[in-house]
Amino acid sequence: MDKKKNGFASGIGFVLAAAGSAVGLGNLWGFPYKTHDNGGAAFVLVYVACVLLIGVVTMMCEIFIGRRAQANPVSAFKKVGKNVGWLGVLAVLIPAFIACYYSVLGGYTVRFTVNSFAGNAGTFIPFAGSGLAVVIYTAVFIGMALVVVMAGVKGGIEAASKVLMPVLFLILVATAIFSLSLGEGVKEGLTFYLKPDFSKLSGTGILSAMGQAFYSLSLGMGAMIAYGSYTGKEINLVKSTAMICLCDTAVALLAGFAIFPAVYHYNVIHGSSAGAFQGVGLMFQTLPLVFEDLGTVGKIISFFFFAMVGIAAVTSVISLLEVVSQFIIQKFRVSRKKAVSVLALICFAVSIPVGISLGQVLGGKEGAITVFGQNLLDLFDIITNTVLMPVCAFFSCVTIGWILGPKKALGEMAEDGQKLGWFAPIFAVMVKYVTPLLIAAIEIFGVYDLIFPKNAEGLRIFSSNGLGITLCAYGLLAIGVILYFVFLRNTACGTNADEEA
Ligand code: TRP
Repeated sequence: MDKKKNGFASGIGFVLAAAGSAVGLGNLWGFPYKTHDNGGAAFVLVYVACVLLIGVVTMMCEIFIGRRAQANPVSAFKKVGKNVGWLGVLAVLIPAFIACYYSVLGGYTVRFTVNSFAGNAGTFIPFAGSGLAVVIYTAVFIGMALVVVMAGVKGGIEAASKVLMPVLFLILVATAIFSLSLGEGVKEGLTFYLKPDFSKLSGTGILSAMGQAFYSLSLGMGAMIAYGSYTGKEINLVKSTAMICLCDTAVALLAGFAIFPAVYHYNVIHGSSAGAFQGVGLMFQTLPLVFEDLGTVGKIISFFFFAMVGIAAVTSVISLLEVVSQFIIQKFRVSRKKAVSVLALICFAVSIPVGISLGQVLGGKEGAITVFGQNLLDLFDIITNTVLMPVCAFFSCVTIGWILGPKKALGEMAEDGQKLGWFAPIFAVMVKYVTPLLIAAIEIFGVYDLIFPKNAEGLRIFSSNGLGITLCAYGLLAIGVILYFVFLRNTACGTNADEEA
Protein backbone atom coordinates (compact mmCIF):
# COMPACT_ATOMS: atom_id res chain seq x y z
CA MET A 1 0.00 0.00 0.00
CA ASP A 2 2.33 2.70 -1.15
CA LYS A 3 1.35 6.29 -1.01
CA LYS A 4 -0.71 7.22 -4.02
CA LYS A 5 -0.05 10.49 -5.76
CA ASN A 6 -3.65 11.52 -5.36
CA GLY A 7 -4.11 10.63 -1.69
CA PHE A 8 -3.66 12.59 1.52
CA ALA A 9 -0.11 13.76 2.09
CA SER A 10 -0.16 13.36 5.85
CA GLY A 11 -2.00 11.68 8.68
CA ILE A 12 -2.97 14.99 10.21
CA GLY A 13 -4.27 16.16 6.84
CA PHE A 14 -6.52 13.14 6.70
CA VAL A 15 -7.79 13.63 10.24
CA LEU A 16 -8.57 17.29 9.60
CA ALA A 17 -10.35 16.53 6.33
CA ALA A 18 -12.39 13.75 7.93
CA ALA A 19 -13.16 16.02 10.87
CA GLY A 20 -14.18 18.63 8.31
CA SER A 21 -16.65 16.19 6.87
CA ALA A 22 -17.98 15.27 10.28
CA VAL A 23 -18.18 18.74 11.76
CA GLY A 24 -21.08 20.49 10.13
CA LEU A 25 -24.56 21.81 10.63
CA GLY A 26 -25.29 18.66 12.57
CA ASN A 27 -22.91 19.78 15.32
CA LEU A 28 -23.51 23.49 15.42
CA TRP A 29 -27.23 23.47 14.94
CA GLY A 30 -28.74 19.98 15.12
CA PHE A 31 -27.00 19.03 18.33
CA PRO A 32 -28.01 22.12 20.35
CA TYR A 33 -31.64 22.07 19.29
CA LYS A 34 -32.03 18.34 19.78
CA THR A 35 -30.41 18.70 23.17
CA HIS A 36 -32.94 21.35 23.99
CA ASP A 37 -35.89 19.27 22.83
CA ASN A 38 -34.79 16.20 24.73
CA GLY A 39 -34.11 17.40 28.21
CA GLY A 40 -30.65 18.95 28.05
CA ALA A 41 -27.81 17.18 29.80
CA ALA A 42 -29.50 13.77 29.75
CA PHE A 43 -29.49 13.87 25.97
CA VAL A 44 -25.85 14.95 25.98
CA LEU A 45 -24.86 11.92 28.04
CA VAL A 46 -26.72 9.51 25.78
CA TYR A 47 -25.19 11.19 22.76
CA VAL A 48 -21.66 10.76 24.04
CA ALA A 49 -22.40 7.12 24.89
CA CYS A 50 -23.63 6.58 21.33
CA VAL A 51 -20.47 8.06 19.87
CA LEU A 52 -18.41 5.68 21.98
CA LEU A 53 -20.56 2.58 21.52
CA ILE A 54 -21.51 2.77 17.89
CA GLY A 55 -19.76 5.71 16.32
CA VAL A 56 -16.17 4.65 16.93
CA VAL A 57 -16.58 1.09 15.71
CA THR A 58 -18.57 2.04 12.61
CA MET A 59 -16.07 4.70 11.69
CA MET A 60 -13.18 2.29 12.04
CA CYS A 61 -14.97 -0.15 9.77
CA GLU A 62 -15.63 2.47 7.14
CA ILE A 63 -12.10 3.85 7.07
CA PHE A 64 -10.77 0.31 6.98
CA ILE A 65 -13.08 -0.73 4.14
CA GLY A 66 -11.93 2.24 2.08
CA ARG A 67 -8.28 1.91 2.88
CA ARG A 68 -7.85 -1.76 2.13
CA ALA A 69 -9.39 -1.20 -1.30
CA GLN A 70 -7.78 2.16 -2.17
CA ALA A 71 -10.91 2.79 -4.17
CA ASN A 72 -14.38 4.33 -4.29
CA PRO A 73 -17.15 2.87 -2.09
CA VAL A 74 -18.56 0.60 -4.80
CA SER A 75 -15.22 -1.05 -5.51
CA ALA A 76 -14.45 -1.05 -1.80
CA PHE A 77 -17.57 -3.00 -0.84
CA LYS A 78 -17.08 -5.26 -3.84
CA LYS A 79 -13.69 -6.13 -2.47
CA VAL A 80 -15.31 -7.38 0.74
CA GLY A 81 -17.83 -9.45 -1.18
CA LYS A 82 -19.18 -9.30 -4.71
CA ASN A 83 -22.76 -9.47 -3.48
CA VAL A 84 -22.46 -6.57 -1.06
CA GLY A 85 -21.20 -4.10 -3.65
CA TRP A 86 -24.68 -2.59 -3.82
CA LEU A 87 -23.89 -0.99 -0.48
CA GLY A 88 -21.37 1.08 -2.33
CA VAL A 89 -24.10 2.31 -4.65
CA LEU A 90 -26.07 3.35 -1.59
CA ALA A 91 -22.98 4.99 -0.15
CA VAL A 92 -22.71 7.08 -3.32
CA LEU A 93 -26.43 7.81 -3.74
CA ILE A 94 -27.01 9.07 -0.20
CA PRO A 95 -24.33 11.80 -0.33
CA ALA A 96 -25.69 12.93 -3.71
CA PHE A 97 -29.08 13.52 -2.12
CA ILE A 98 -27.69 15.14 0.97
CA ALA A 99 -25.53 17.52 -1.07
CA CYS A 100 -28.67 18.91 -2.73
CA TYR A 101 -30.35 20.01 0.48
CA TYR A 102 -27.26 20.69 2.55
CA SER A 103 -26.17 23.26 -0.04
CA VAL A 104 -29.39 25.22 0.44
CA LEU A 105 -28.62 25.51 4.14
CA GLY A 106 -25.02 26.32 3.24
CA GLY A 107 -26.36 29.14 1.08
CA TYR A 108 -28.29 30.45 4.09
CA THR A 109 -25.07 30.63 6.11
CA VAL A 110 -23.36 32.64 3.37
CA ARG A 111 -26.28 35.07 3.28
CA PHE A 112 -26.30 35.44 7.06
CA THR A 113 -22.55 36.00 7.16
CA VAL A 114 -22.52 38.79 4.59
CA ASN A 115 -25.68 40.34 5.99
CA SER A 116 -24.40 40.42 9.58
CA PHE A 117 -23.60 44.10 9.62
CA ALA A 118 -26.87 45.12 8.06
CA GLY A 119 -28.65 43.03 10.70
CA ASN A 120 -30.17 39.59 10.30
CA ALA A 121 -32.93 39.82 12.87
CA GLY A 122 -36.33 39.16 11.40
CA THR A 123 -34.99 38.67 7.89
CA PHE A 124 -35.11 34.90 7.75
CA ILE A 125 -38.61 34.19 6.50
CA PRO A 126 -38.57 36.94 3.85
CA PHE A 127 -35.14 35.79 2.70
CA ALA A 128 -36.01 32.08 2.62
CA GLY A 129 -39.14 32.91 0.67
CA SER A 130 -37.33 34.99 -1.92
CA GLY A 131 -36.55 32.33 -4.48
CA LEU A 132 -33.89 34.20 -6.41
CA ALA A 133 -31.74 35.24 -3.44
CA VAL A 134 -31.74 31.71 -2.07
CA VAL A 135 -30.73 30.32 -5.44
CA ILE A 136 -27.88 32.81 -5.78
CA TYR A 137 -26.47 32.14 -2.33
CA THR A 138 -26.77 28.41 -2.86
CA ALA A 139 -24.80 28.82 -6.07
CA VAL A 140 -22.08 30.77 -4.27
CA PHE A 141 -21.88 28.09 -1.63
CA ILE A 142 -21.68 25.20 -4.09
CA GLY A 143 -19.11 27.18 -6.06
CA MET A 144 -16.81 27.32 -3.04
CA ALA A 145 -17.03 23.58 -2.49
CA LEU A 146 -16.54 22.97 -6.20
CA VAL A 147 -13.28 24.90 -6.36
CA VAL A 148 -11.83 22.86 -3.51
CA VAL A 149 -12.91 19.43 -4.75
CA MET A 150 -11.66 20.24 -8.23
CA ALA A 151 -8.21 20.93 -6.88
CA GLY A 152 -7.98 17.32 -5.76
CA VAL A 153 -7.56 15.47 -2.51
CA LYS A 154 -4.13 16.74 -1.55
CA GLY A 155 -4.11 20.15 -3.22
CA GLY A 156 -7.75 20.95 -2.51
CA ILE A 157 -9.43 19.05 0.27
CA GLU A 158 -6.41 18.53 2.49
CA ALA A 159 -5.05 22.02 1.97
CA ALA A 160 -8.42 23.65 2.65
CA SER A 161 -9.11 21.55 5.74
CA LYS A 162 -5.74 22.38 7.22
CA VAL A 163 -6.60 26.07 7.18
CA LEU A 164 -10.35 26.01 7.72
CA MET A 165 -10.61 23.54 10.60
CA PRO A 166 -8.30 25.43 12.99
CA VAL A 167 -10.06 28.69 12.07
CA LEU A 168 -13.42 27.11 12.81
CA PHE A 169 -12.21 25.83 16.15
CA LEU A 170 -10.77 29.19 17.19
CA ILE A 171 -13.95 31.08 16.31
CA LEU A 172 -16.03 28.53 18.16
CA VAL A 173 -13.93 28.73 21.32
CA ALA A 174 -13.99 32.52 21.17
CA THR A 175 -17.77 32.57 20.73
CA ALA A 176 -18.24 30.17 23.62
CA ILE A 177 -16.05 32.30 25.90
CA PHE A 178 -17.95 35.41 24.89
CA SER A 179 -21.27 33.72 25.46
CA LEU A 180 -20.21 32.49 28.89
CA SER A 181 -19.26 36.04 29.88
CA LEU A 182 -22.66 37.55 29.17
CA GLY A 183 -23.69 37.55 32.82
CA GLU A 184 -27.44 37.36 33.30
CA GLY A 185 -29.01 34.11 32.19
CA VAL A 186 -25.72 32.28 31.72
CA LYS A 187 -26.23 30.26 34.87
CA GLU A 188 -29.70 29.16 33.80
CA GLY A 189 -28.41 28.19 30.39
CA LEU A 190 -25.58 26.17 31.86
CA THR A 191 -27.82 24.46 34.38
CA PHE A 192 -30.09 23.34 31.63
CA TYR A 193 -27.19 22.13 29.51
CA LEU A 194 -25.21 20.38 32.21
CA LYS A 195 -27.70 19.14 34.79
CA PRO A 196 -29.38 15.99 33.54
CA ASP A 197 -33.13 15.66 33.81
CA PHE A 198 -33.82 12.11 32.76
CA SER A 199 -37.55 12.54 33.12
CA LYS A 200 -37.51 14.61 29.94
CA LEU A 201 -35.71 11.97 27.95
CA SER A 202 -38.03 9.60 26.10
CA GLY A 203 -37.30 6.56 23.98
CA THR A 204 -37.62 8.78 20.95
CA GLY A 205 -35.03 11.05 22.52
CA ILE A 206 -32.58 8.19 22.86
CA LEU A 207 -33.13 7.23 19.23
CA SER A 208 -32.69 10.80 18.23
CA ALA A 209 -29.33 10.80 20.05
CA MET A 210 -28.22 7.67 18.20
CA GLY A 211 -29.28 9.05 14.84
CA GLN A 212 -27.63 12.34 15.62
CA ALA A 213 -24.36 10.61 16.49
CA PHE A 214 -24.35 8.89 13.11
CA TYR A 215 -25.26 11.92 11.16
CA SER A 216 -22.78 14.07 12.97
CA LEU A 217 -19.94 11.63 12.39
CA SER A 218 -20.81 11.38 8.67
CA LEU A 219 -21.29 7.64 8.97
CA GLY A 220 -23.31 5.41 6.71
CA MET A 221 -22.82 7.49 3.61
CA GLY A 222 -19.54 6.74 2.02
CA ALA A 223 -17.67 9.78 3.31
CA MET A 224 -15.30 7.92 5.60
CA ILE A 225 -14.87 5.13 3.06
CA ALA A 226 -13.86 7.62 0.38
CA TYR A 227 -11.51 9.58 2.62
CA GLY A 228 -10.17 6.38 4.15
CA SER A 229 -9.29 5.13 0.69
CA TYR A 230 -6.87 8.01 0.28
CA THR A 231 -4.78 6.91 3.24
CA GLY A 232 -2.06 4.35 3.60
CA LYS A 233 0.28 3.02 6.23
CA GLU A 234 1.12 6.52 7.41
CA ILE A 235 -2.06 6.80 9.42
CA ASN A 236 -2.96 4.86 12.49
CA LEU A 237 -6.51 3.59 12.19
CA VAL A 238 -7.41 3.66 15.85
CA LYS A 239 -5.75 6.94 16.66
CA SER A 240 -7.21 8.68 13.64
CA THR A 241 -10.69 7.39 14.40
CA ALA A 242 -10.36 8.52 17.99
CA MET A 243 -9.20 11.95 16.93
CA ILE A 244 -11.97 12.43 14.39
CA CYS A 245 -14.64 11.37 16.89
CA LEU A 246 -13.10 13.56 19.56
CA CYS A 247 -13.02 16.62 17.28
CA ASP A 248 -16.58 16.09 16.22
CA THR A 249 -17.87 15.62 19.74
CA ALA A 250 -15.84 18.52 21.09
CA VAL A 251 -17.30 20.84 18.48
CA ALA A 252 -20.85 19.72 19.28
CA LEU A 253 -20.30 20.21 23.02
CA LEU A 254 -18.66 23.60 22.49
CA ALA A 255 -21.56 24.65 20.29
CA GLY A 256 -23.77 24.02 23.31
CA PHE A 257 -21.57 26.30 25.41
CA ALA A 258 -21.79 28.98 22.75
CA ILE A 259 -25.53 28.77 22.22
CA PHE A 260 -27.31 27.94 25.50
CA PRO A 261 -25.92 30.76 27.65
CA ALA A 262 -26.52 33.31 24.88
CA VAL A 263 -30.12 32.30 24.24
CA TYR A 264 -30.93 32.07 27.96
CA HIS A 265 -29.31 35.45 28.45
CA TYR A 266 -31.61 36.92 25.85
CA ASN A 267 -34.66 35.19 27.26
CA VAL A 268 -33.96 36.26 30.84
CA ILE A 269 -33.51 39.88 29.82
CA HIS A 270 -36.64 39.91 27.74
CA GLY A 271 -38.58 37.84 30.19
CA SER A 272 -39.81 35.61 27.44
CA SER A 273 -38.91 32.54 25.56
CA ALA A 274 -39.03 34.43 22.30
CA GLY A 275 -35.76 32.74 21.58
CA ALA A 276 -37.18 29.43 20.53
CA PHE A 277 -34.92 26.51 19.84
CA GLN A 278 -36.92 24.54 17.33
CA GLY A 279 -35.42 23.40 14.06
CA VAL A 280 -34.43 26.04 11.56
CA GLY A 281 -35.59 28.67 14.01
CA LEU A 282 -32.66 28.35 16.37
CA MET A 283 -29.93 29.15 13.91
CA PHE A 284 -31.58 31.67 11.64
CA GLN A 285 -34.25 33.32 13.76
CA THR A 286 -33.31 33.13 17.41
CA LEU A 287 -29.58 33.71 17.18
CA PRO A 288 -29.96 36.81 14.99
CA LEU A 289 -32.26 38.26 17.67
CA VAL A 290 -29.69 37.48 20.32
CA PHE A 291 -26.91 39.05 18.25
CA GLU A 292 -28.94 42.16 17.50
CA ASP A 293 -29.56 42.68 21.18
CA LEU A 294 -25.81 42.94 21.72
CA GLY A 295 -25.35 45.99 19.50
CA THR A 296 -22.17 46.50 17.49
CA VAL A 297 -20.32 43.71 19.28
CA GLY A 298 -23.21 41.47 18.33
CA LYS A 299 -22.73 42.31 14.66
CA ILE A 300 -19.10 41.33 14.80
CA ILE A 301 -19.91 38.13 16.65
CA SER A 302 -22.67 37.41 14.18
CA PHE A 303 -20.26 37.77 11.27
CA PHE A 304 -17.72 35.38 12.75
CA PHE A 305 -20.34 32.97 14.00
CA PHE A 306 -22.08 32.53 10.67
CA ALA A 307 -18.75 32.43 8.86
CA MET A 308 -17.83 29.57 11.16
CA VAL A 309 -21.08 27.75 10.46
CA GLY A 310 -20.44 28.31 6.77
CA ILE A 311 -16.96 26.83 7.07
CA ALA A 312 -18.35 23.80 8.87
CA ALA A 313 -20.97 23.36 6.17
CA VAL A 314 -18.60 23.81 3.26
CA THR A 315 -16.09 21.23 4.50
CA SER A 316 -19.00 18.79 4.82
CA VAL A 317 -20.31 19.45 1.33
CA ILE A 318 -16.77 19.08 0.01
CA SER A 319 -16.74 15.51 1.31
CA LEU A 320 -20.21 14.81 -0.06
CA LEU A 321 -19.10 15.94 -3.50
CA GLU A 322 -15.86 14.01 -3.21
CA VAL A 323 -17.62 10.69 -2.54
CA VAL A 324 -19.76 10.99 -5.64
CA SER A 325 -16.99 12.43 -7.82
CA GLN A 326 -14.58 9.72 -6.79
CA PHE A 327 -16.96 7.11 -8.06
CA ILE A 328 -17.69 8.94 -11.31
CA ILE A 329 -13.99 9.59 -11.98
CA GLN A 330 -13.00 6.00 -11.38
CA LYS A 331 -15.93 4.21 -12.94
CA PHE A 332 -16.27 6.30 -16.06
CA ARG A 333 -12.64 7.32 -16.37
CA VAL A 334 -13.41 10.98 -16.73
CA SER A 335 -11.23 13.79 -15.48
CA ARG A 336 -11.78 15.23 -12.02
CA LYS A 337 -12.65 18.60 -13.49
CA LYS A 338 -15.36 17.15 -15.67
CA ALA A 339 -16.80 14.91 -12.98
CA VAL A 340 -16.92 17.60 -10.32
CA SER A 341 -18.39 20.29 -12.53
CA VAL A 342 -21.15 18.09 -13.91
CA LEU A 343 -21.95 16.88 -10.42
CA ALA A 344 -22.00 20.37 -8.94
CA LEU A 345 -24.28 21.52 -11.72
CA ILE A 346 -26.76 18.71 -11.11
CA CYS A 347 -26.60 19.33 -7.40
CA PHE A 348 -27.30 23.01 -7.98
CA ALA A 349 -30.22 22.25 -10.30
CA VAL A 350 -31.84 19.98 -7.73
CA SER A 351 -31.18 22.43 -4.92
CA ILE A 352 -33.34 25.06 -6.63
CA PRO A 353 -36.73 23.40 -6.05
CA VAL A 354 -35.51 22.25 -2.63
CA GLY A 355 -34.71 25.81 -1.58
CA ILE A 356 -37.92 27.21 -3.03
CA SER A 357 -40.06 24.55 -1.39
CA LEU A 358 -38.49 25.14 2.02
CA GLY A 359 -38.96 28.90 1.73
CA GLN A 360 -42.59 28.50 0.77
CA VAL A 361 -43.38 26.16 3.61
CA LEU A 362 -41.57 28.29 6.20
CA GLY A 363 -43.45 31.33 4.98
CA GLY A 364 -46.73 29.43 5.26
CA LYS A 365 -47.46 30.00 1.60
CA GLU A 366 -50.53 28.35 0.19
CA GLY A 367 -49.91 25.87 -2.56
CA ALA A 368 -46.29 25.41 -1.46
CA ILE A 369 -44.37 22.59 -3.09
CA THR A 370 -44.60 19.58 -0.79
CA VAL A 371 -44.33 15.84 -1.24
CA PHE A 372 -45.97 13.55 1.29
CA GLY A 373 -46.72 16.59 3.38
CA GLN A 374 -43.07 17.58 3.69
CA ASN A 375 -41.09 20.34 2.10
CA LEU A 376 -38.41 18.90 -0.15
CA LEU A 377 -35.59 19.58 2.28
CA ASP A 378 -37.18 17.61 5.08
CA LEU A 379 -38.23 14.93 2.61
CA PHE A 380 -34.64 14.41 1.44
CA ASP A 381 -33.45 14.54 5.01
CA ILE A 382 -35.86 11.87 6.19
CA ILE A 383 -35.25 9.58 3.24
CA THR A 384 -31.50 9.68 3.67
CA ASN A 385 -31.01 10.01 7.40
CA THR A 386 -33.89 8.12 8.89
CA VAL A 387 -34.22 5.29 6.41
CA LEU A 388 -31.16 4.80 4.24
CA MET A 389 -28.23 5.83 6.37
CA PRO A 390 -28.77 3.22 9.09
CA VAL A 391 -29.05 0.54 6.40
CA CYS A 392 -25.70 1.50 4.99
CA ALA A 393 -24.06 1.80 8.42
CA PHE A 394 -25.54 -1.49 9.57
CA PHE A 395 -24.10 -3.36 6.63
CA SER A 396 -20.75 -1.61 6.94
CA CYS A 397 -20.45 -3.27 10.33
CA VAL A 398 -21.95 -6.54 9.18
CA THR A 399 -19.57 -6.83 6.23
CA ILE A 400 -16.65 -6.59 8.65
CA GLY A 401 -18.27 -8.54 11.48
CA TRP A 402 -19.75 -11.39 9.48
CA ILE A 403 -18.57 -11.44 5.88
CA LEU A 404 -14.91 -10.60 6.21
CA GLY A 405 -14.97 -11.58 9.86
CA PRO A 406 -13.25 -9.76 12.72
CA LYS A 407 -10.41 -12.28 12.74
CA LYS A 408 -9.47 -11.61 9.17
CA ALA A 409 -10.03 -7.89 9.58
CA LEU A 410 -7.84 -7.71 12.66
CA GLY A 411 -5.24 -9.87 10.92
CA GLU A 412 -5.18 -7.52 7.95
CA MET A 413 -4.88 -4.55 10.25
CA ALA A 414 -1.98 -6.16 12.09
CA GLU A 415 -0.21 -6.95 8.82
CA ASP A 416 -0.63 -3.32 8.02
CA GLY A 417 1.16 -2.34 11.22
CA GLN A 418 -2.11 -1.54 13.01
CA LYS A 419 -2.19 -3.54 16.19
CA LEU A 420 -5.36 -2.81 18.08
CA GLY A 421 -3.97 -4.23 21.34
CA TRP A 422 -6.51 -4.35 24.15
CA PHE A 423 -9.13 -2.91 21.87
CA ALA A 424 -9.00 -5.90 19.50
CA PRO A 425 -11.32 -8.26 21.43
CA ILE A 426 -13.68 -5.40 22.22
CA PHE A 427 -13.74 -4.43 18.57
CA ALA A 428 -14.47 -8.02 17.55
CA VAL A 429 -17.50 -8.30 19.81
CA MET A 430 -18.79 -4.83 19.10
CA VAL A 431 -18.58 -5.09 15.35
CA LYS A 432 -20.28 -8.45 15.30
CA TYR A 433 -23.08 -7.98 17.80
CA VAL A 434 -23.45 -4.77 19.75
CA THR A 435 -23.08 -2.12 17.10
CA PRO A 436 -25.20 -3.77 14.37
CA LEU A 437 -27.97 -4.45 16.91
CA LEU A 438 -28.03 -0.85 18.02
CA ILE A 439 -28.04 0.38 14.45
CA ALA A 440 -30.84 -2.02 13.57
CA ALA A 441 -32.81 -0.53 16.46
CA ILE A 442 -32.30 2.95 15.02
CA GLU A 443 -33.63 1.79 11.67
CA ILE A 444 -36.63 -0.10 13.01
CA PHE A 445 -37.78 2.53 15.48
CA GLY A 446 -36.99 5.34 13.07
CA VAL A 447 -39.24 3.85 10.41
CA TYR A 448 -41.88 2.96 12.99
CA ASP A 449 -41.90 6.54 14.19
CA LEU A 450 -42.27 7.72 10.63
CA ILE A 451 -45.25 5.51 9.85
CA PHE A 452 -46.88 5.81 13.29
CA PRO A 453 -45.96 9.26 14.58
CA LYS A 454 -47.31 10.57 17.86
CA ASN A 455 -50.18 13.01 17.63
CA ALA A 456 -50.67 16.00 19.90
CA GLU A 457 -52.07 13.78 22.68
CA GLY A 458 -49.06 11.51 22.49
CA LEU A 459 -50.99 8.71 20.82
CA ARG A 460 -49.50 6.81 17.92
CA ILE A 461 -51.50 7.25 14.76
CA PHE A 462 -50.98 5.88 11.30
CA SER A 463 -49.54 8.33 8.81
CA SER A 464 -50.04 7.58 5.16
CA ASN A 465 -47.46 10.25 4.33
CA GLY A 466 -44.95 8.50 6.57
CA LEU A 467 -45.67 5.25 4.80
CA GLY A 468 -45.26 7.00 1.45
CA ILE A 469 -41.85 8.37 2.41
CA THR A 470 -40.76 4.98 3.72
CA LEU A 471 -41.79 3.25 0.51
CA CYS A 472 -40.05 5.92 -1.52
CA ALA A 473 -36.83 5.40 0.42
CA TYR A 474 -36.91 1.63 0.16
CA GLY A 475 -37.81 2.00 -3.52
CA LEU A 476 -34.67 4.03 -3.96
CA LEU A 477 -32.73 1.37 -2.15
CA ALA A 478 -34.19 -1.27 -4.46
CA ILE A 479 -33.22 0.77 -7.51
CA GLY A 480 -29.69 1.03 -6.17
CA VAL A 481 -29.51 -2.72 -5.64
CA ILE A 482 -30.86 -3.45 -9.11
CA LEU A 483 -28.49 -0.96 -10.73
CA TYR A 484 -25.65 -2.72 -9.00
CA PHE A 485 -26.55 -6.24 -10.01
CA VAL A 486 -27.35 -5.27 -13.59
CA PHE A 487 -24.56 -2.83 -14.37
CA LEU A 488 -21.84 -2.92 -11.77
CA ARG A 489 -21.43 -6.35 -10.26
CA ASN A 490 -19.59 -7.84 -13.16
CA THR A 491 -17.73 -4.83 -14.45
CA ALA A 492 -14.68 -3.12 -13.04
CA CYS A 493 -15.53 -0.02 -11.02
CA GLY A 494 -12.05 1.43 -10.80
CA THR A 495 -9.65 2.35 -8.03
CA ASN A 496 -7.79 5.44 -6.90
CA ALA A 497 -4.97 4.52 -9.26
CA ASP A 498 -7.32 5.14 -12.17
CA GLU A 499 -7.49 8.83 -11.52
CA GLU A 500 -5.01 10.59 -13.73
CA ALA A 501 -3.10 13.16 -11.80
N1 TRP B 1 -21.69 15.23 9.50
C1 TRP B 1 -22.27 16.36 8.88
C2 TRP B 1 -22.80 17.30 9.94
O1 TRP B 1 -22.63 17.08 11.10
C3 TRP B 1 -23.37 16.04 7.94
C4 TRP B 1 -23.18 14.82 7.16
C5 TRP B 1 -23.84 13.70 7.32
C6 TRP B 1 -22.26 14.59 6.16
N2 TRP B 1 -23.39 12.78 6.46
C7 TRP B 1 -22.42 13.28 5.74
C8 TRP B 1 -21.29 15.37 5.60
C9 TRP B 1 -21.63 12.74 4.79
C10 TRP B 1 -20.50 14.84 4.63
C11 TRP B 1 -20.66 13.52 4.23
O2 TRP B 1 -23.42 18.26 9.62
